[in-house]
Amino acid sequence: MNLDTLDRDIDTERLVLRPLSEADLDDLFAVHGDDDVTHFLPSRTWTSRDDALAWLARHHAMHDERRVRRWVLVDRTDGRRIGDCMLFNFEAPAARAEIGFVLGRADWGRSLMREAAGALIATAFEALALRRIEAFADPQNGASDRLLRALGFVHEGTFRQRVVVKGEVRDSNAYGLLRDEWERLSLAR
Ligand SMILES: CC(C)(COP(=O)(O)OP(=O)(O)OC[C@H]1O[C@@H](n2cnc3c(N)ncnc32)[C@H](O)[C@@H]1OP(=O)(O)O)[C@@H](O)C(=O)NCCC(=O)NCCS
Repeated sequence: MNLDTLDRDIDTERLVLRPLSEADLDDLFAVHGDDDVTHFLPSRTWTSRDDALAWLARHHAMHDERRVRRWVLVDRTDGRRIGDCMLFNFEAPAARAEIGFVLGRADWGRSLMREAAGALIATAFEALALRRIEAFADPQNGASDRLLRALGFVHEGTFRQRVVVKGEVRDSNAYGLLRDEWERLSLAR
């Protein structure tokens, strides 16, 4: 079992989650080139095409080492790539992995990432036989906290001084979602 089983599109009502490619970079500039969007992310804000290409090269290296899979969120109505989400830190023996997500500011507040992350979580639990999915978010990141809780994640604690974001040492809230919790929630939806 490895991440190759996830090399495919994931369909939702309003979106197609499509494996990342270089053709996505122009649209993704509106996402990763916006300081408001990257505020809580360890990665730097893109200011040039070279930044985007360097980001893509890092992604490809991790992809080829089977450390990450990343999808762009394609809006079905107009084909715009409006953000991306990823699955990484997959540990097959422990049956766990971590998710991350980012959405362009123009599309915040439409529950689009809830739709995308929900589909990614369902696919990952199924395809990789995961027992647990993890996520980390800055304690000040209210939107991420709301989203993760809405997806069923439980806040399990705070890791102190875990990351450096834009040169500042920051704590991280740790969240976990267990497969049986997800299945119960899915049945109730
Ligand atoms: C986190 C993010 C993906 C959420 O995406 P989204 O599609 O806008 O999420 P939703 O529309 O489902 O909204 C999430 C919830 O947060 C709430 N929210 C939005 N901004 C908020 C804020 N600043 N503080 C508190 N809550 C906020 C919304 O009202 C919504 O709550 P509700 O479901 O109870 O109504 C998006 O804000 C984003 O990309 N942020 C920048 C990148 C980032 O921080 N990524 C996560 C790193 S861990």
